[in-house]
Amino acid sequence: MRVGVVIPAAGKGTRIGQGRPKQFIDLEGKPLLFHVLEYFQSTSLIDLMILVGPADDLISMREEVARNNLTKVLDVVAGGVQRQDSVWNGLQRIGDEHVDYVVVHDAVRPFIDDELVTNVLRSAMEFGAAVPAVHPKETIKHATHELFVGSTPPRIHLWITQTPQIFEFSLLHRAYKSATANGYKGTDDASLVERLGQRVKIVHGSYDNIKITTPEDFELAKIIHRRRNPSRRAH
Ligand code: CTP
Ligand code: MG
Repeated sequence: MRVGVVIPAAGKGTRIGQGRPKQFIDLEGKPLLFHVLEYFQSTSLIDLMILVGPADDLISMREEVARNNLTKVLDVVAGGVQRQDSVWNGLQRIGDEHVDYVVVHDAVRPFIDDELVTNVLRSAMEFGAAVPAVHPKETIKHATHELFVGSTPPRIHLWITQTPQIFEFSLLHRAYKSATANGYKGTDDASLVERLGQRVKIVHGSYDNIKITTPEDFELAKIIHRRRNPSRRAH
């Protein structure tokens, strides 16, 4: 069984408001993206990676990949306007590598580990599609256009979805192809599969597995990083 990873890293990071895209900003000594690449390089759970980057950065990203001996990164391809376009580019490239399962993981979620990937992969193998998710800690309201509360869905049914999202390659490829042909835009990978009427299994994710989106997420990430890497505290 071959498992490949597509890493969308072609965003602009507008919400974090720094000079450069957040995937290239350092977290405790190395760029966010490299936390992710080094994890997948080191784990025995996956075989190869396709990295998706901003068109202008492909050469420098390829150089960094080679310099850091990230031998599982088979290619760095250009992304598109939206995340969905970037993943689609990566998915088409990974199609050449004959993978059975594809993992899609954001470049800006550095706290990924074998426990999480194993749990999601196991469910993907059983059900064809699986995503990690956590319950919201606060009450979520569904609002009307005029900003009145429409309803309060029971928290037990609400899940905040994360990555890694894992799929049978052929299923995700079909879902992306169909979405692209019909101009459908989703905010995660699973929504494209749901659109085909296929079931997606929810797996318990981790509250550590944050997506770094706004500046305060970086502060939180430093704390999580220190807790997860206690030996570094002395330095
Ligand atoms: N991404 C991508 N191509 C895009 C947009 C996003 O590959 N056109 C990637 C980002 O680099 C990130 C992941 O998708 O790894 C999650 O996206 P998000 O957190 O929204 O990152 P940005 O789009 O960069 O940030 P923002 O939405 O604040 O501009
Ligand atoms: Mg974005």
